[in-house]
Amino acid sequence: MTTIGFIGAGRIGSAVARAAISHGYDVVLSNSRGPETLSDLIAELGPKARAATAAEAAAAADVAMVTIPFRAHNQVPVEPLAGKIVLDSNNYYFERDGHVDELDRGEATVSGLLQRHLPSSKVAKAFNHIESGQIGTDGTPAGTPNRRALATSSDFPEAVAWVTTFYDELGFDTVDTSPLSESWRVERDRPAYVSRQNAEELLENLAKAPRTI
Ligand SMILES: NC(=O)c1ccc[n+]([C@@H]2O[C@H](COP(=O)([O-])OP(=O)(O)OC[C@H]3O[C@@H](n4cnc5c(N)ncnc54)[C@H](OP(=O)(O)O)[C@@H]3O)[C@@H](O)[C@H]2O)c1
Repeated sequence: MTTIGFIGAGRIGSAVARAAISHGYDVVLSNSRGPETLSDLIAELGPKARAATAAEAAAAADVAMVTIPFRAHNQVPVEPLAGKIVLDSNNYYFERDGHVDELDRGEATVSGLLQRHLPSSKVAKAFNHIESGQIGTDGTPAGTPNRRALATSSDFPEAVAWVTTFYDELGFDTVDTSPLSESWRVERDRPAYVSRQNAEELLENLAKAPRTI
């Protein structure tokens, strides 16, 4: 069975882990304070979850997810993620993360900067525009009218394919906004950000996104 290694075990990390376990995945969760601080969450998630350091979670991962405050993205372990698909839920809030000139000027993307930090990994933007509490509640079977859609993008088609399958298992359609350089379309405060959209609505909102806010 596929193991998803989580760098970050907060609201989004724990919600995606919970949903992944319910679809048969194993998960390894990490945070900044150490595995011992995750004992309550691991007890709640059950035997398909374990806690580890970030480096151990990265090493154990068949696929990884980075879901931490953006300001910490340069601390993500590099070598153990080489060659792996890495989902990135991160959003940039200058109020929380400090200003990053490239992002403020619209010359980079949040996930592009993670890809720069992880040059041998296959980064895919995922789960950045859904509230954590909706991951376990908004999913519906494929073919349901008005099914919620989520965006992904990557420079690696196999990463987009993996996310598409995973979204579908969790109950969501996929809109592919590749390459990763286009992922600004779903970043903070654009029309596609956080609101509930089906695939058609999401495509419309992505198309009308302004490059800078
Ligand atoms: N909350 C949402 O609904 C939502 C929705 C979409 C996207 N996002 C984005 O997804 C990211 C995570 O959001 P969140 O709400 O889940 O945040 P959160 O609840 O604050 O959790 C952040 C997690 O990251 C861990 N962390 C921090 N620095 C780390 C490091 N250097 N190495 C390993 N783990 C580290 C924290 O561990 P400690 O607690 O031990 O510090 C914590 O487990 C953010 O970029 C956010 O903007 C959030």
